[in-house]
Amino acid sequence: MKTNSPNITSILQITGIRKAFPGVQAISRASFDLNPGEIHALVGENGAGKSTLIKILTGAHKADSGEVLLDGKLVSFGSPLEARRAGIAAIYQEFSLIPSLPVSANIFLGRENTTHGLISPRREIKDTIALFNRLGLKLDPETPVGNLSIAHQQLVEIAKALATKSQILVMDEPTAALAPHEVESLFGILRDLKSEGIGIIFIGHRLEEILEIADRVTVMRDGATIGTWNIGEITRAELISQMVGRPIEEEYPKSKAIFGETYFEVRGLTGGPVRDISFSARRGEILGLAGLMGAGRTEVVRLIFGADNKSDGQIIIGGEKCDINSPKDAIDCGICLLTEDRKAQGLILMASCRENFALPNLESWSHLGFVDSKREIDRFSERVRSLNIRLSSPEQRAEDLSGGNQQKLLVARWLETNFEVIIFDEPTRGIDVGAKHEMYLLINELAARGKVVIVISSDLLEILEIADRIIVMREGQISGEISDMATATQEKIMALAT
Ligand SMILES: Nc1ncnc2c1ncn2[C@@H]1O[C@H](COP(=O)(O)OP(=O)(O)OP(=O)(O)O)[C@@H](O)[C@H]1O
Ligand SMILES: [Mg+2]
Repeated sequence: MKTNSPNITSILQITGIRKAFPGVQAISRASFDLNPGEIHALVGENGAGKSTLIKILTGAHKADSGEVLLDGKLVSFGSPLEARRAGIAAIYQEFSLIPSLPVSANIFLGRENTTHGLISPRREIKDTIALFNRLGLKLDPETPVGNLSIAHQQLVEIAKALATKSQILVMDEPTAALAPHEVESLFGILRDLKSEGIGIIFIGHRLEEILEIADRVTVMRDGATIGTWNIGEITRAELISQMVGRPIEEEYPKSKAIFGETYFEVRGLTGGPVRDISFSARRGEILGLAGLMGAGRTEVVRLIFGADNKSDGQIIIGGEKCDINSPKDAIDCGICLLTEDRKAQGLILMASCRENFALPNLESWSHLGFVDSKREIDRFSERVRSLNIRLSSPEQRAEDLSGGNQQKLLVARWLETNFEVIIFDEPTRGIDVGAKHEMYLLINELAARGKVVIVISSDLLEILEIADRIIVMREGQISGEISDMATATQEKIMALAT
């Protein structure tokens, strides 16, 4: 049943919002309302306009037309700081933390804790510890944010939002970088906030989370809000087809695996927090790497890829020992790595989409020192089509793509290189259901072409569905392996991971 009739008790009413960016109508028609003490989810495909809508709400963007009513009063914020002062705290998809500053200073940034007008770092640290206790988080408030994992940075963002007394909390994909137990503790906090009467806008791509935590859900498609439903009155499948505009038959497509020879092998890999990792994978195999945040999965693949120095261990590809001391060595050996942190390690945000795509591939498209630009643009157009990347033009800046489309752009780039071993670190984080489906098809296709595919995923359901075998890590070591996928369960993985 649709419930999008205006609600008199609502604390927030957004109506008739429109917003264009050069070359794209990001929002053509958006309406949304929020009640106190409710969690209202906002869902939709990558590029549907979710982040833009909440940026308008919080004063980060200015709408071309439309109205925002807060407690029945017309408001228009000039900046996120103004919105925050009016009781709207937001956690954006892109973190707004300053890497060089300590955690506590980040949390109180812009409204420093003062005693008699003086900034008091000691009080900030004390308050930070209190907030962390509330979040069940064990972090040193004095560590620079830049030293933290993405998951921890996300939790710091949440702490920062909680530090202000807010009436409305907006969270743009807060769980994208969190492990299952961290999601559960976040949900515990959200339920507490809810019971205190705070209204929460929750943007996310993991539908099981939406169905678990939200009271209502609004779907955006192609820049418009197309409907609002009470959770419990819409099924998962209905929600998917509302978002995508067509039903998706199989959420996790899986083709029958045909394995070739053992092609990729790691022996005694050690370095940083990682100790004595040994495993092998066959051609055509999709090997899952599971474990909690901080178990060392990303560190393992960074060692394999030569991004960090190993202190011991060997990497054997096609029976031959490979001397990998840098990412370039790894690429030359036929390994490619899709990193989890697309902003810091992948894209050049100021450059255009086409340039980002072409960057590592220019050599192979050049002839006698000239880049074959027709070939470049042809390859680019084809990948944009096959991966369904949404951009207004090839020259659009990578920074202006929606989060999920940035991820797809990185994938497109790597698919152009010659590789036999491909490692995906959290490939579907922040990606919409339709694109996830395409990503699974792609992973299957790579395996069917005889590649070795290694997938790190914190999404247990996903890894169970797509992997042929799962290695579980705990505290820098392998704690077990699951090879009989027919009897594998989330509980089995969790038992090995904790
Ligand atoms: N600053 C900007 N300049 C130009 N275009 C932009 C800008 N910000 C967003 N867009 C475009 O507006 C559209 C909506 O983007 P938005 O980030 O709101 O999507 P989203 O629903 O949040 O997607 P995702 O799930 O991938 O985060 C996209 O086509 C995007 O490329
Ligand atoms: Mg977004």
